[in-house]
Amino acid sequence: MSSTQFPFSAPATEPVPSANFLSGKHIVLGMSGGIACYKGAELCRALVKAGASVQVVMTEAATEFMTAVTMQALSGRPVFTSQWDSRAAGGQDNNMAHINLSREAHAVVVAPASADFMAKLLHGRADELLSLMCLARPIASVPLIVAPAMNREMWQHPATQRNMAQLKADGTYVLDVGAGEQACGEVGDGRMLEPHELLAELQAFFTPKVLAGKRVCITAGPTYEAIDPVRGMTNRSSGKMGFALAQACANAGAEVCLVAGPVALDTPRGVSRVDVRSAQDMLSAVNMASQNCDVFIACAAVADWAPANAATQKLKKDGSGAVPTLSFVENPDILASVASSPAALAGRLYCVGFAAESHDLLAHAQAKRVRKGVPMLVGNIGPDTFGQDDNALVLITEQAPVATERADKLSLAHWLLSHIAPQLT
Ligand code: C5P
Repeated sequence: MSSTQFPFSAPATEPVPSANFLSGKHIVLGMSGGIACYKGAELCRALVKAGASVQVVMTEAATEFMTAVTMQALSGRPVFTSQWDSRAAGGQDNNMAHINLSREAHAVVVAPASADFMAKLLHGRADELLSLMCLARPIASVPLIVAPAMNREMWQHPATQRNMAQLKADGTYVLDVGAGEQACGEVGDGRMLEPHELLAELQAFFTPKVLAGKRVCITAGPTYEAIDPVRGMTNRSSGKMGFALAQACANAGAEVCLVAGPVALDTPRGVSRVDVRSAQDMLSAVNMASQNCDVFIACAAVADWAPANAATQKLKKDGSGAVPTLSFVENPDILASVASSPAALAGRLYCVGFAAESHDLLAHAQAKRVRKGVPMLVGNIGPDTFGQDDNALVLITEQAPVATERADKLSLAHWLLSHIAPQLT
């Protein structure tokens, strides 16, 4: 952020660490036999693009669906398929690939994990390299993550469900399955998650859980104030910062309720979402959602005013040149009302506001923090953030203000959490 935005006293600038928690991780990607191997190949590519190193281990059945040549090309490393493979593994030349491969891993990810492979894992069977390696991995330091992939009948079968429950009890991290049309033509649960969903799960897995056990309510996006049934007033907020915050909080272990104005954004993974339209709707939703929360983050660009009496029928142009006269009422201030609630006043609910300004950001944001009665307020320049994927923030608390460089919104969200988390008891 250039200091010219803070003409009176430029705050100190803090670096914003990247929110890519897969960067630098070493993943052993296990593939068992199933048509979802093609998604495993895409996942491999995505992991490499995210900066992880990937060592692929395939069962014999997996090589019927995807060649080791393809997986070597995607991972940039020779693929292991046999326990009798005598090549050096994990830097060791002792002919013990099943031991060495997992020793340098941050996680073993089996995608796809077939019904048969899950049954093998459950029983601790070790008659081929992948299951042998899973059994021989250091259980306390190398997590095992499996992405099930199978036909819906196989998925629903009591044996599979029993196996899955026991795998979880044994400490395996079992991912959800997707629902929908399957390769066999049937429709139901059991599809492996899509590569981008698997990547999101793995990003979440590696995110430090600074908000474990906390409940967070976040508002995001604009509000829409109706003039008549077809027209209304809104603003240019895209909701991207609030949605990034919701994603960051959920990945950091919080239970998140996102109260969203009208935006065209997908709900972040693991977040429950309430869609609203007007400021009044948002206030009602927040009053419900913020109960028993530990943190309230007001990121929405709430309209200051709403038309006093929205017309129930479309206002018509009559050709005379006459224009309608609109009068306005002030909207409730959601943040100020939550900040003055008993939970906030008692220190059980930590409130964070946002200020989108066009000039004199520092002075306006500092004044707004006091006016809203919140311990933390995040200032940004409105025209520089609305609709953008990146932004720069200034953090206002009782202490000296802190600014950031421009960074992507998810990284900024995690940076903000690193300042919020220490304030929670
Ligand atoms: O007053 P202003 O709109 O600049 O305040 C911004 C902060 O207050 C944001 O956190 C916004 O979400 C919140 N706010 C609110 N209800 C309003 C107006 C703003 O919660 N009616």
